[in-house]
Amino acid sequence: MTIIVTGGAGFIGSNFVFYMLEKYPDYRIVCLDKLTYAGNLSTLAPVMENPNFRFVKEDICDREAVDRLFEEEHPDMVVNFAAETHVDRSIEDPDVFLQSNIMGTAVLMDACRKYGIKRYHQVSTDEVYGDLPLDRPDLFFTEETPIHASSPYSSAKAGADLLVLAYHRTFGLPVTISRCSNNYGPYQFPEKLIPLMIANALADKPLPVYGDGLNVRDWLYVEDHCKAIDLIIHKGREGEVYNVGGHNEKQNIEIVKIICKELGKPESLIAYVGDRKGHDRRYAIDPAKIHEELGWLPETKFEDGIKKTIQWSLENREWWETIVSGEYQNYYEKMYGNR
Ligand code: NAD
Ligand code: DAU
Repeated sequence: MTIIVTGGAGFIGSNFVFYMLEKYPDYRIVCLDKLTYAGNLSTLAPVMENPNFRFVKEDICDREAVDRLFEEEHPDMVVNFAAETHVDRSIEDPDVFLQSNIMGTAVLMDACRKYGIKRYHQVSTDEVYGDLPLDRPDLFFTEETPIHASSPYSSAKAGADLLVLAYHRTFGLPVTISRCSNNYGPYQFPEKLIPLMIANALADKPLPVYGDGLNVRDWLYVEDHCKAIDLIIHKGREGEVYNVGGHNEKQNIEIVKIICKELGKPESLIAYVGDRKGHDRRYAIDPAKIHEELGWLPETKFEDGIKKTIQWSLENREWWETIVSGEYQNYYEKMYGNR
């Protein structure tokens, strides 16, 4: 079994590469990644010498490069993590989101059609459903919830999802889609809420909470997401969408206070700043379908997952300190300087 994992030098993709190489010692895992600002080859250092692993630095939008890789590797499956992923960046500059998230998906699927494939899996997001109101805790996103994306990021992901389903219906491509809630865990780029707050708190810097801090996200430990994708690519039904989430809703301000408490830092570091444009209020997944069809349930409780994530950040300071001391400083100044 040969699987091309795109975006494998990023947060979830790298966790998936580690998970698959360990769980399936006879699989070949080929990582295709452009190494954008979010991709980090040092993350993959522990598997670079593994004979079952290959890293290829290419852009999923580059048809020739993608075709070449298919000719060399004859993959059985493609799992597409590669994307621009940060909502705030998509508000500043949507263009690259349309390129990588939509066109890149089309290029990969065209190669799958041309060379044949057992499964193309699209790693999507709960953000394609838009948001839910705070005063209706009884409402959840199901796979039947209409697509109603809010940001350039989530609308590009939604566009890709529509294309994936269209390639299934029109060309019979064997596809699946997973739509997961917010992930956290090792190797998350420190532009995202949890690693940003951990990095800032450790440096005694202000903790910038957007708006009133009452927005709700449904947090899932990254390994549980990897396990869900593993189940879907092996046992999921072709042409189907599976929502992935763990009924673990938390307000942003709760998350930031938990991080302060775990690190022994004062809540006086919390600084309310201007809100994100179009800021989604609440995400909440109904995971009944993946539970009933594939037996998936989240295994890591938030209380344990956040402790593990903080411990990882303390033990791997070099990994994230290298990032936050580089180009990231310009990003931070641009995003937070006058907020
Ligand atoms: P990330 O930003 O940490 O990593 C993205 C990776 O994709 C990077 O290694 C980057 O170099 C690579 N990449 C970007 N554009 C590329 C291109 N054109 N060609 C090849 N490689 C390219 O992202 P993440 O948080 O790990 O998210 C991975 C996937 O999971 C994304 O598709 C995202 O939409 C989806 N997702 C993320 C979350 C979350 O909470 N992080 C939740 C649900 C779904
Ligand atoms: O729901 C899945 C999505 O989760 C993925 O599809 C996206 O790729 C991923 O980035 C994430 O999107 P969010 O916008 O929910 O994540 P982010 O970490 O950027 O923000 C989480 C919440 O925290 C959100 O309500 C905005 C808020 N926030 C974020 C940052 C970076 C702050 O209050 N302050 C901050 O500095």
